Amino acid sequence: MTYSQPGVPAARKLGAEEFDFGVVHDRSQFGSAKWANQWDEFSPRVEGEGLVSLWTADMDFRAPEPVIARLREAVNHGIYGYTKRDPRHYEIVKSWFERRHNWGVDQATLLPAPAIMPSVAAILRTFTQPRDGVIVQAPVYSPYFQVVRDNNRTLLINRLRLVEGGYELDLNDFERLAANGARAFLLCNPHNPAGKAWTREELESLDSLCERYGILVISDDIHCDIRLNDRPHVVFSSIGEGAAAKSFICTAPTKTFNLAGVPSATLSIADSKRREELFRVMQASFMVNANFFGRIALEVAYTSGDQWLDHLTRYIRDNVNLVLSRAAESLPGISPMRPDASFLVWLDAREVDAKVGGVHRFFVERAGVNLYDGRVYGPGGEGFIRLNVGCPRSVLEEALARMASALSSL
Ligand SMILES: Cc1ncc(COP(=O)(O)O)c(C=O)c1O
Repeated sequence: MTYSQPGVPAARKLGAEEFDFGVVHDRSQFGSAKWANQWDEFSPRVEGEGLVSLWTADMDFRAPEPVIARLREAVNHGIYGYTKRDPRHYEIVKSWFERRHNWGVDQATLLPAPAIMPSVAAILRTFTQPRDGVIVQAPVYSPYFQVVRDNNRTLLINRLRLVEGGYELDLNDFERLAANGARAFLLCNPHNPAGKAWTREELESLDSLCERYGILVISDDIHCDIRLNDRPHVVFSSIGEGAAAKSFICTAPTKTFNLAGVPSATLSIADSKRREELFRVMQASFMVNANFFGRIALEVAYTSGDQWLDHLTRYIRDNVNLVLSRAAESLPGISPMRPDASFLVWLDAREVDAKVGGVHRFFVERAGVNLYDGRVYGPGGEGFIRLNVGCPRSVLEEALARMASALSSL
């Protein structure tokens, strides 16, 4: 299905130059947090000369050309006033998920949102009470800890089990937490940092426990679009009516198309009462007005970004393969976990970590490479590091060579 809504260019075939992910761009002039090696003025900076920055989760690629072209037109127009999502906006979102993930989401269930984490916070504040338990599965994206704690809820950590170099659910522990005051479960699907795509069976097991103990499920699907193998993305609410009734599905095009700085997100909430209640709360927090550029970027990306995403996925897959082969050849003590989805590779570096007393610092100081310290991801992350492969191959090659050289001196 193509759209020719004014403002959303119809999908067109792109030229090869529009998929040149190998070009190295200098991002420093626009205040890139990743390349400044610091999140914001309130967080510590990672110090080092000429660091290769492969930590926080944005990519070093230009967005799809149709998105850039439309944003350029909007910039040139020069009037950045209030903007409105019309019904086509939601048709575009629906069509994307139908095409890419075979998820026939009912358009009536969709709500607009500024981004994922503010939505998670609003859902927790609306449907749980202070001190209620919220389950998260560690190691995991660290703002999950923050959103639970800073909203005065009780963090219940369900450790994933590390089995033969991959993660598995610990359902016994999940049930123990479920029976001990949990009111909500924050699911990361696919899971960041390991890029694990949860299977239908795994989601069904979680759903049956949540059903038994009356637990709401907030599913963060932000990393769902970059599929690195033939494991499909299974949307939690698609596994059955019970799952749909208890869940909040949070989606965004921001990781997929490298649009984190022009955010826009969409929630799907099948339960109409909860949907209306959340919408009221979001309105009361003035969270529902569209961001001028974010709305445009979402619509054009979801309409015209398929081809770009297919090329990107192949590029990322090759980058992941490069990490795996280099690790086997020249990174002793480092074992990467092959991701099913996303542009993130989780490296088990516990052996090196123990030897050098902190593997993150070791690679910053001895290799000039800044990766994400696994400790940030909570219990189970100690001794791991996360490598962001959303970068040109030459940058990744340089980082891997530097890491190999640092390890060879041990
Ligand atoms: C799992 C996960 N959820 C949410 C986010 C951030 O989403 P947003 O910027 O829309 O709040 C990230 C960014 O890295 C992420 O990895």
